[in-house]
Amino acid sequence: MEKCKTIAMLEGDGIGPEIMESARMVLERICAMWGHQIACREGLVGGAAYEKYGEHLPEETVALCRETDAILFGAVGGPVDEQDSPKWKDSEKKVILGLRKRFDLFANIRPLRSFPPVYSASPLREKIVRACDVVIVRELVSGIYFGEHRRIAKGGKRAAEDVNYYHEDEIRRIVQVGFRIASGRSKRLAVVDKANVLETSRLWREIAEEVAREHPDIAVEFLYVDNAAMQLVCAPESFDVIVTENMFGDILSDLGGAVVGSLGLLPSASLNEEGFGLYEPVHGSAPDIAGTGVANPTAQILSLALLLDYSFGLQEEARAIERAVVQTWQDGIYTKDVSPDSFVLGKEFAKEVCSRIEKHIL
Ligand code: IPM
Ligand code: MG
Repeated sequence: MEKCKTIAMLEGDGIGPEIMESARMVLERICAMWGHQIACREGLVGGAAYEKYGEHLPEETVALCRETDAILFGAVGGPVDEQDSPKWKDSEKKVILGLRKRFDLFANIRPLRSFPPVYSASPLREKIVRACDVVIVRELVSGIYFGEHRRIAKGGKRAAEDVNYYHEDEIRRIVQVGFRIASGRSKRLAVVDKANVLETSRLWREIAEEVAREHPDIAVEFLYVDNAAMQLVCAPESFDVIVTENMFGDILSDLGGAVVGSLGLLPSASLNEEGFGLYEPVHGSAPDIAGTGVANPTAQILSLALLLDYSFGLQEEARAIERAVVQTWQDGIYTKDVSPDSFVLGKEFAKEVCSRIEKHIL
């Protein structure tokens, strides 16, 4: 990496600030060891932004993101019983969906992988957890999330509707990402939909079949989402890369978190067509444990690793972070979500990870 890079750090609310602090420690360690110049610029989002600017996603923050090379995002969202207060109302929707749409971050990549020392954190048998090495490629800026949402009165009663809309170009570009990722892995792609019921899903199949003709070396399988959910739990090894629409990807990735043991382990990357990316944990702001220090910073640290890998081309550094996390677990150091009876606080865990980051000699 030649020139100095800049990361927009948006720590957000709840456990966001504490897990971001852990990721920052890891970044400082990487920069010190490899001699990189990576500057961090902080921006406010969510409840914290609301207090200062009266908005959850202020233009100041969007402008800051535009000036940087990548975004590292923490989490947004307030306590369940305060959801209706102006500070929190719709904050997740406004910030997370707002950033995704503003930067057209259509390709959400969520690797589902567990590591030997934490297999036992999963409620499933080790044999199943061990076999889970899947990448979920989720469409992120269209579908039911971005279709019209409205309330309609019907016969004096309340009714509501959410429109699930997909344009063929939106489907094609995400399916192409699925094929590209599959071609760099085991050349198997599962297209997940609900084509027995939904017209949008039928269109997905049509487009996926067209794209498949350009990739004769990839084995494509079509599955209904309900069946895919069952298979992901019973036989995760039957998947390699899954490509799916926004809503199905959301649900399957939480399910995947349970398979690998904890949502606290899962990082994600959301990229646009220019390769600009936002990196964030799959989990949320967990206000119930915020401030207690127990939050697992692993997903945030692994999101940083994805950022270094995809946005800055620093593969060696990214692998060093992943190895250090595994080594920390191997040395018997865990956070509470993974090992409720014997654990260290999140910040301690991050310090242990830092001390295990060694330069990887290729
Ligand atoms: C995720 C989250 C978000 C989503 C929420 C917070 C809007 O669940 O990134 O998976 O549904 O996309
Ligand atoms: Mg989700």
